[in-house]
Amino acid sequence: MSTKLKSVPNDFDSIEVQPLSDIIGAEIRGVDLSKDLSPAALDAVHQVWLQHSVIVLRDQRLSDGDLVRFSKHFGVLDFGPNMAWQPEANRDHPEIFVISNVVENGNPIGFLGDTEVDWHTDLCHTDLPPKASTLYAMEIPTDGSGNTGYMNMYTLLDALPDDLRIRLDGLQLKHEDAHTLQGELRYGLNEGDLKTIEDAPGPVHPLIRTHPETGRKCLYLGRQWNGEHRATFVDGMSRAESDALLDEIWTVARKEDCAWYHEWQAGDFVMWDNRCVMHRRGPFPSEMRRIMHRTQIRDTAKPF
Ligand SMILES: [Fe+2]
Repeated sequence: MSTKLKSVPNDFDSIEVQPLSDIIGAEIRGVDLSKDLSPAALDAVHQVWLQHSVIVLRDQRLSDGDLVRFSKHFGVLDFGPNMAWQPEANRDHPEIFVISNVVENGNPIGFLGDTEVDWHTDLCHTDLPPKASTLYAMEIPTDGSGNTGYMNMYTLLDALPDDLRIRLDGLQLKHEDAHTLQGELRYGLNEGDLKTIEDAPGPVHPLIRTHPETGRKCLYLGRQWNGEHRATFVDGMSRAESDALLDEIWTVARKEDCAWYHEWQAGDFVMWDNRCVMHRRGPFPSEMRRIMHRTQIRDTAKPF
């Protein structure tokens, strides 16, 4: 059932909020992100985002400048990585990350290709993971593939058996930073030097974190590669204990009872709360074009 949010002066009488599932996500209607929003409207959008963790606004027509301007209302933006073949200087909007499988003149225009990207939290393997990520869909596959799943990490914590949840209290996870999201060794590192996750570079974050704005507790699992090769390790446990415990948690996560999938349309803008959400992307046919522009909003404090 859609609900009218509080009155928002200057832009419109109110914004309409339609929950997209019982688990996570809400569509906000009546907002054009290419226009300046009043502080009241921005606050309303912020509150819906905190409540539902993922917001979707359809039928947007955004320039890169629009996407950057709106994203900056939520914090400082990180710069996107440049493609190796592109000149680094004079990028109009270095805050834009291009996510695409499209190849032009023999060069990929963006990152991540067309393969599956397994469940993960963006940049969990860094000291200060971003608080939010956005995606604006410019071209999408026409066969309905390449959708993005979002998992509610508040409800996943609640969904764990009581005895398991109790055992997680106070534990810390090591997130190794030696491999990319797709399991490839980062440039300059040697596989032989990385005998264990414990030896690899990477930060330690709490396995159960407290959201700094909502005050709610949620699971912070990080990522897996293809459901098998773990990039995380429970600090202070033996490898066998850590693997067994993470198996118990991921078995519940992979039921996807706490997940919902967004079916993309061109013109969709999505912003998710990276502090309490994991996401994954399904594969899509390589002959189909998928172009998304993305921003990444820096957090102000490490997970706690
Ligand atoms: Fe991601």
